[in-house]
Amino acid sequence: MAHDLNVINGGKREQYESLFPQLNELIAYESDIIANMGNLAAALKQQFNWFWIGFYLVKDSELVLGPFQGPVACTRILFGKGVCGTSWERRETIIVDDVNNFPGHIACSSLSKSEIVVPIIQNDIVIGVLDVDSEYLNTFDEEDSVWLNKIVKLIFPNE
Ligand code: SME
Repeated sequence: MAHDLNVINGGKREQYESLFPQLNELIAYESDIIANMGNLAAALKQQFNWFWIGFYLVKDSELVLGPFQGPVACTRILFGKGVCGTSWERRETIIVDDVNNFPGHIACSSLSKSEIVVPIIQNDIVIGVLDVDSEYLNTFDEEDSVWLNKIVKLIFPNE
């Protein structure tokens, strides 16, 4: 069955509004979360062409790299470290306008300039994070936070 993504031009809201039902459709008939994380990362990369997008999952008290799109990345991040580990610790979405201003930011790539990290919470436990990096400053805002949280809940609805 073909799964061609309909990629549109337009503002951020229009892009998310077009993408969201397609993501829902993409994962609706698949129960494997690795497969769904892979497709979700690919679809977001196709629509927004962000520098890097991917998942880290908590394993043995560390965040371990999961499905992603973009250049190779750090494989393990400790609790409270970097933007990802801080999102895990605070249990909240973190938007970083300029990674140079975030103490302890982990530079997997020197090209990454701004970032958003959304914690994935199930049964009150952080089980991972969704991380998005941009080559440009100030890429992410509250609108991205709202939509990316909704998108994460497509795969991990049980909160
Ligand atoms: N910058 C992240 C590390 C992960 S990479 O960006 C893919 C951080 O500070 O946690």
